[in-house]
Amino acid sequence: MSVLRLICSPRGAASESYRLSQFVVRALARTDAERGRELVDFDVNQLSHVDAEYAWALGSPADPAQATGTLCESDGLIRALAAADYLVIATPMHNYTVPSALKAWVDHVLRVRHSFNVTRQGKVGLLADRPVFLAAASGGFFTGERARQPDFLTPYLKAAMATMGLKSFHAFAVEGTAMGREALQAARLRAQAQIAGFFAPVPGEQEAVLPA
Ligand SMILES: Cc1cc2nc3c(=O)[nH]c(=O)nc-3n(C[C@H](O)[C@H](O)[C@H](O)COP(=O)(O)O)c2cc1C
Repeated sequence: MSVLRLICSPRGAASESYRLSQFVVRALARTDAERGRELVDFDVNQLSHVDAEYAWALGSPADPAQATGTLCESDGLIRALAAADYLVIATPMHNYTVPSALKAWVDHVLRVRHSFNVTRQGKVGLLADRPVFLAAASGGFFTGERARQPDFLTPYLKAAMATMGLKSFHAFAVEGTAMGREALQAARLRAQAQIAGFFAPVPGEQEAVLPA
């Protein structure tokens, strides 16, 4: 199995969202062990914003004969996404939504004629469905009774992934990282327990898949 993990925090592997994503990656390795494990880490902070040619191409009825600039970058990013069995997005919340580097990645992969088509009925995804796991971190709370801010991160990513055909979306978050050491520890344990619960085998499932 192959996992594409997007590292979106400017703090990279030292970040809270990366730390949380490790639990998802390890759980995937355990549940899908028979297929072996390939983990491709991609730091979206290295991405450029889409350029003028990209914008022209997206506004045109057909692609240019020769892809140049960020169109080429986009081709490679869509290929990497299409090749992955699982997508893990490790990201902080920035100003209620995704960091700009992750938005740049979305702009590269959510591309008409390549990852979705426009029809009379709306946009139709062109990628095969595969599970997407969000591992988010936020300084404050955006769910529950302590939430004092909107969440434009989770619904945005869910909608963006679904547009490409990736409809199986699962979100985990460490919320309240700025609320002190004890609160952070409690938030970590809550999120880790949610991940463990999600990946826990259903009773009888193992017996069901064993050959007779
Ligand atoms: C530019 C910026 C904007 C932020 N905006 C928010 C926000 O809107 N809501 C929030 O709860 N935390 C916000 N934070 C705090 C981060 O989400 C928090 O520190 C998080 O734990 C960082 O995760 P990371 O270690 O994965 O980068 C912001 C941080 C930065 C740097």
